[in-house]
Amino acid sequence: MNDFIFENSTKIFFGKGCVKEHLACLTKDYGDTVMLAYGGGSIKRSGVYDVVTAALKQAGKHIVEFSGIMANPTYAKVLEGAKLAKENHVGLILGVGGGSVMDCCKAVSIAARYDGDVWTDFWENRGTIDFEPLPVGVIVTLSGTGSECNGEGVITNEELKVKTGRDYPKCNPRFSMLDPTYTYSVPKYQLASSSFDILSHIMEIYFSGPDEDNVSDDISEALMRNVIRNLRVAIQNPEDYTARGNLMWDSAMAENRIIKLGKRLDFQCHQMEHQLGAYTNCTHGAGLAVLHPVYYRHIYKEGLAKFKRFAVDVWGISAEGKTDEEIALAGIDALADFIVEIGMPVTLRELGVDESTDLKAIADSCTIVTGSYKKLTHEEILDIFKECF
Ligand code: NZQ
Ligand code: ZN
Repeated sequence: MNDFIFENSTKIFFGKGCVKEHLACLTKDYGDTVMLAYGGGSIKRSGVYDVVTAALKQAGKHIVEFSGIMANPTYAKVLEGAKLAKENHVGLILGVGGGSVMDCCKAVSIAARYDGDVWTDFWENRGTIDFEPLPVGVIVTLSGTGSECNGEGVITNEELKVKTGRDYPKCNPRFSMLDPTYTYSVPKYQLASSSFDILSHIMEIYFSGPDEDNVSDDISEALMRNVIRNLRVAIQNPEDYTARGNLMWDSAMAENRIIKLGKRLDFQCHQMEHQLGAYTNCTHGAGLAVLHPVYYRHIYKEGLAKFKRFAVDVWGISAEGKTDEEIALAGIDALADFIVEIGMPVTLRELGVDESTDLKAIADSCTIVTGSYKKLTHEEILDIFKECF
């Protein structure tokens, strides 16, 4: 295990009714004005909006609405939110939604406290800015990204065609409210996509050294099995509280830094998906579902023992009568079969990427990570994209 320092400042409220019970009291320390941030309107259709606004009114808050946060939030939307927050002397940004809303809120919390070029000074040249962002609290309606429990805000700069994030601990939400019933209304495709995102986060951590006995790998295997089992249940019965609750906590566990401790981390697939997203605006988890099996078939030989362990311990594949390579490949096949089973796309074409897309430009724009079993080149990334097409 590598050395680490651990901190996670987010206070979690988990359970049915937690918003109604705790929100009014929680907001009391953050001034008179709350910026209520949300997406395209799912919170109005589900009734969550009414519960939240009632609690804020009960607490005597003035509410400034910041709505229309799109999936894969843009830098332009961040600047719009920052202007609104500054003009209204907002004391708390309350994000209600999925990863896009939460990420946008964190980015706004930085931009609202900075007068310079925040893209250059925060996202591009990391380390330039160090100050307290505006406080953010979140109410999760879609779990998967883990944004509810970390400091990362993934933002797309449309002009530069760059999608990037940064886990800035001061952007950890002050509180996160996780009511599994709030996720009942998530459509099946989005449920599968977001849950695959959880699985992807865990795999990106698991498939990287060091590989000697370590607690992260053991927890990761339990989490992966939990995601697989509960996603199957939630697809069959969207209102299964146990399944939704498990997935909600899996999401936070995958990205609250705990299983990352002591590991080098891969995240090459995430790098590739983010740039694919910057060029095509694809759905994050679905993009990862297309990329992962192909990427793993490119790198498994360099991490053979771990891929073998994945096959046996996560997918229950029998090692009997098989070579190490056959076992490792059977595990990747099981992952690919699961992707089909949950209704995720398996090609870029199915993801909505068309022939005119410049795959070379996307490949060239990807960052090459250092923590993977095999350090890719931009040519190999292009090969993977072509194979996925
Ligand atoms: O906008 P509304 O109307 O709310 O609809 C949303 C959106 O259309 C809908 N939705 C959310 N909750 C719902 C619901 N529909 C019905 N019922 C509900 N209860 O779901 C759609 C997708 O929402 P979005 O927030 O975009 O999805 P997700 O949570 O997957 O977030 C994706 C974004 O997070 C980033 C991704 O790159 C992407 O930009 N990520 C953030 C990370 C982080 N902060 O740590 C890490 C991840 O790897 C990821 O990069
Ligand atoms: Zn992700």
